[in-house]
Amino acid sequence: MITIRTPEEIEKIALASKLTADTLSLLEKTVRPGISTLELDRIAEEYIRSNGGIPSCKGYEGYPASLCTSVNDMVVHGIPSAKKILRKGDIISIDLVVELNGYMGDSCITIPVGHTNKKNLQLIEVTEQALFAGIKQAVPGNHVGDIGYAVEKTVKPYGYGVLREYVGHGIGTDMHEDPEVPNYGTPGHGPRLEEGMVICIEPMITMGSPDILTLRDGWGVVTADGKPAAHIEHTVAITKDGPKILTLRS
Ligand code: CO
Repeated sequence: MITIRTPEEIEKIALASKLTADTLSLLEKTVRPGISTLELDRIAEEYIRSNGGIPSCKGYEGYPASLCTSVNDMVVHGIPSAKKILRKGDIISIDLVVELNGYMGDSCITIPVGHTNKKNLQLIEVTEQALFAGIKQAVPGNHVGDIGYAVEKTVKPYGYGVLREYVGHGIGTDMHEDPEVPNYGTPGHGPRLEEGMVICIEPMITMGSPDILTLRDGWGVVTADGKPAAHIEHTVAITKDGPKILTLRS
């Protein structure tokens, strides 16, 4: 069942989303060669809690951390670790869900650690373009399939892979609500979008094959071919005036 949110509820999701975005802005400034992903997790958790929020991932189905930090060939769900030290040229995806006053925001960035190579930069840029192409379709009267179609169409000319095992989702009082929002689809198909729905659009794009493996820790998902991946996500409200991105960073 897809929940239609009142303007008051959307305002609460927006406040949680702003704390999500502010935390990612802080992390963006903190990422540098030599820092561990566990240190990033500590900084995020402390910032979120000191602003009255709760890092929703911590404890979710046993997940042990506040952030997912996925480096290079890791696509999603990388568990922060003291042993994972960032190096110049890496790319890191930082995925974060924050709960504030019972409502949630969800966003992910992929950024280079210092400078990275042109191929990595293009992967990140195209993934962001795909996200925005998807967001553009998030208007009343369109269908979920319009979003996925736009995402996949954007990355296809580059020969990139689109993950099919993981998808975007509705959000509000739970981290994952209906509808599922795949990064592939057929125009005009899938649930109809209406004013008051709030969804997370999150392309997970691989430079090579979209085949993946799950690590023995039960969480980390890596590309089977070892090539890099990018993951960028926004929480978006569907309004009569068009898509409203709630996790935008200033
Ligand atoms: Co999400």
